[in-house]
Amino acid sequence: MTLIFAHRGYSVSYPENTMKAFREAEKVGAEGLEIDVQLSKDGQVVVIHDEKVDRTTNGKGFVKDLTYKELRNLDASYENKTFLKKERIPSLEEVLEWLTSNEIICNIELKNGIFPYEGMEEKIVELVRRYGLSDRIIFSSFNHYSIIYCYRLAPEIEIAPLIVEGLYMPWVYAKSIRAKSIQPKYIAAPNEVIIKSMENGIDVRPYTVNKEAEMRRLFDVGCSGFITDDPAKAIRIRKQY
Ligand code: G3P
Ligand code: CA
Repeated sequence: MTLIFAHRGYSVSYPENTMKAFREAEKVGAEGLEIDVQLSKDGQVVVIHDEKVDRTTNGKGFVKDLTYKELRNLDASYENKTFLKKERIPSLEEVLEWLTSNEIICNIELKNGIFPYEGMEEKIVELVRRYGLSDRIIFSSFNHYSIIYCYRLAPEIEIAPLIVEGLYMPWVYAKSIRAKSIQPKYIAAPNEVIIKSMENGIDVRPYTVNKEAEMRRLFDVGCSGFITDDPAKAIRIRKQY
């Protein structure tokens, strides 16, 4: 079955990267979540996409310059003007604790490409192990060195490189870094690449797939999964197969 991963949670309808968006994704039946993490000034792993808080909250400045307490005081539903209830920026720990009450898979994207968040990998691995979730977590990043390092720290946790453009024989690359899966931008994942990767034991989860025609292409080819802002739509379409 093609698994559905909710990108930043059920982000087409709820404020991205908030507990509300994660809970609603689970309610509609998504098998997985995709979340983004950064480090606060005082070293807490927090769930937010941008390096700055400006777009998604009522605050200003870089995540790395704000303490966890300052980040928690912000309204993370700011961008979604129709959403009236205040949401907080979640800590990774809060998400992991919630994951222990359900069966959802969680793809943690390490957003450490622009700022080198020193010690981030160690902190995340420690948290995932503490909550006993190693078999339901996937580490992804555009910074492949970071997930290779995660694999060194915790070979029991799956790693998945994010791939923006066509990579020659990505399954060979994936195996060479011990990744069990790849996450290409959907336009960089033609059917031949999906089929060949899967034949070679590498799962493929393209991102970010929101158009019906693209979803149908991936269901038709039997892709391992995909990442979407609209898990309800994806599940509705999957039911027709
Ligand atoms: O899962 C891949 C996707 O989330 C990467 O892009 O910018 O939405 O984090 P971005
Ligand atoms: Ca992401």
